[in-house]
Amino acid sequence: MWDLLLLDGHAATLRDHAVDPWGTLREAAIGIQAGRIAWVGPRSELEGPAEEIAIECRSLAGAWVTPGLVDCHTHLVFAGNRADEFEDRLHGDSYADIAARGGGIQATVAATRAASEEALLASARTRCRALMAEGATTIEVKSGYGLTVTDELRMLRVARKLETLEPVRIVTTLLGAHACPAEFRSDPEAYVDLVCRDMIPQARAQGLADAVDAFCEDIGFSPSQVERVLEAATKAGLHTKLHAEQLSDQGGAALAARFGALSADHLEWLSDEGIAAMAEAGTVAVLLPGAFYALRETRQPPVKALRAAGIPMALASDCNPGSSPTTALQLMMSFGCTFFGLTPAEALAGLTREGARALGRAQDLGSIEVGKCADLAIWNIDHPRDLAYWVGGGRLQGVYFGGRLRGPNEGSK
Ligand code: NIG
Ligand code: FE
Repeated sequence: MWDLLLLDGHAATLRDHAVDPWGTLREAAIGIQAGRIAWVGPRSELEGPAEEIAIECRSLAGAWVTPGLVDCHTHLVFAGNRADEFEDRLHGDSYADIAARGGGIQATVAATRAASEEALLASARTRCRALMAEGATTIEVKSGYGLTVTDELRMLRVARKLETLEPVRIVTTLLGAHACPAEFRSDPEAYVDLVCRDMIPQARAQGLADAVDAFCEDIGFSPSQVERVLEAATKAGLHTKLHAEQLSDQGGAALAARFGALSADHLEWLSDEGIAAMAEAGTVAVLLPGAFYALRETRQPPVKALRAAGIPMALASDCNPGSSPTTALQLMMSFGCTFFGLTPAEALAGLTREGARALGRAQDLGSIEVGKCADLAIWNIDHPRDLAYWVGGGRLQGVYFGGRLRGPNEGSK
């Protein structure tokens, strides 16, 4: 007997190799057992009367079911905000100008270091719940606003804690090489030493990080510095990811691919060589239209070339106080289509199946398939393309997390 059987709905399963890009299943039935999907198919193929194969049956009353949303790139833990920089940018300053005068990431580092662990947790929890209210069931959270061993580990601890407080899966990424802290300005190599020698091994030893990321950019770290970080991460047995080609072409994506990185993220300046290397390595392209929008970028990531090369494309919020101050996860589907030229099906796949792939969790998450976690979003829509069509969402009816319906106060804004 299954624990639960969902009936009378339609599913966009997002499974690979389906007959259409949505993995459409009309009049679907989804059997759930011990938090996982035990059966999925057309209701007409159920072996026996519903009430004899499941302890409980629930009607979806014509709603659509998709995998729960996976936000595979966020900087959810931080203190303060940078609305002043938003105003400065509107007056003509660039993101790089602001960073060069000690604002930008450094401003958030100062605020984050000064905040208590409780305060960091409380504000991250609010943002986490806002993402959950958009349909997120898995959220990746990066460190990167501490930039000392103690402060980076503290950020990761806060991120891990979210999972004990809310019905959501958290995946953590150490982003010690986000910016060179002021105290190392005269010797950035010494800071990279600290990241490689102390931060990465300690995060690993304390089980606080699933992956390691870095910011490969003129205002971040050079390719040779990033290489050292990725080397140390690989040696520690951690997955790798990279902020690459956001503001300029540094060859970061190809470098990440060389390390078998799970993903290269941003990619507005991605070159043909980068695309070839990512395709070869199976590195996921994570597209972040929230940052493109907020920074008023004009150069789009090469979506047509990524598509032609068969590179999986994920979408994420990049929630952070500087370049993408948003928790409007569903809006990213609209942005992904309108700004980057994704199809609505690619946009939904980007926030589900490919997001899971970018986290190395495709075996468990991201599609409605037997054996995967029963993380499901229920939508009040006529067709899944509506999810990208509505600007800013608002069609979420409910969420199953590990086969359990989230309560009305869980993940409310
Ligand atoms: O993904 N590019 C670097 N990191 C973040 C921005 C961080 C910040 O501005 O605070 C990003 O856009
Ligand atoms: Fe980011």
